[in-house]
Amino acid sequence: MSENKKVLHRATAVMAKGIVLSVDIASNIDAICAFRPDPSDLLIASYPKSGTSWMLEIVDLLLHNGDAKICRQAPLSMRVPFLEMSDRLGSQPGLDMLKEMDPPRIIKTHLPFQLIPSGFWENKCKTIYVTRNAKDTVVSFYQFQQMNLTSADPGSWEGYLQRFMHEGWLYGPWYDHVKGYWEERKKRNILYVFYEDMKENLCREVTRIMRYLDLSLSDDVINRIVDLTTFDNMKDNPMANYTFVPKEIFDTSIASYMRKGEVGDWKNHFTPQQSAEFDKVYETKMKEVNIPFRTEL
Ligand code: A3P
Repeated sequence: MSENKKVLHRATAVMAKGIVLSVDIASNIDAICAFRPDPSDLLIASYPKSGTSWMLEIVDLLLHNGDAKICRQAPLSMRVPFLEMSDRLGSQPGLDMLKEMDPPRIIKTHLPFQLIPSGFWENKCKTIYVTRNAKDTVVSFYQFQQMNLTSADPGSWEGYLQRFMHEGWLYGPWYDHVKGYWEERKKRNILYVFYEDMKENLCREVTRIMRYLDLSLSDDVINRIVDLTTFDNMKDNPMANYTFVPKEIFDTSIASYMRKGEVGDWKNHFTPQQSAEFDKVYETKMKEVNIPFRTEL
């Protein structure tokens, strides 16, 4: 190993501003919250593993009139700054990338609503929140934390599920995350998009996103974007499938980033008892809101 090569290790998770964050993010949280976007910037927010990259690829294509050549010039992580990210994943920290890129930019974040820099709301930046049912999300996040060797150690599936269900972990409780954006969506003009709706009818959802962005693209372009962003086509796209992350960071022998891309995969991971307990806790935690999540299509 060369002298300069960083020794990789799993990050610890710590509490910052009331939210559990990876230590590298927590230690920089004041600078992150102080970030000033441009009014033309577009924020894409999500709880991890909710279809963020899928949304980023769609939006990048929409903003480039469906031109795949332009969107394949660089890996997704270089096209879209990840607001709070440090250099943990081997790329430039989000805030440094933002300093070097001129607006308008697409900016990715997993921060819960209360930690979003207030400049996004003061500048009335467009914001898309993409979300996914809790059961598929926790399965995907568990697999991801296993394969991402820089992420906090997820431990056993049972322990992980219990923690997700009852108290939440990285980026805070899932329930609070989805509720935070849901409650603010009208006041802040946030487009709230469900992964399951995208799986059900991608053309309809891409059209909805296009309208939100005040774009008017032809049916041919929309159909091309739908085709370019199917699971199989994105899985084959080296600029969108995260094979650009070194194997020492994403151990693809454990799972790939583009893993399954399905609604209802949780059934292959939850035992009937785990599912029943999850449903009971879910009902209590979500009782005051009616967010139309679907765990199957
Ligand atoms: P699975 O682990 O269930 O396969 P994020 O980008 O927020 O990290 O979300 C990752 C999840 O979205 C993974 O879910 C991944 O496979 C899925 N995904 C990515 N691109 C997709 C696409 N084009 N269609 C469907 N699912 C997609």
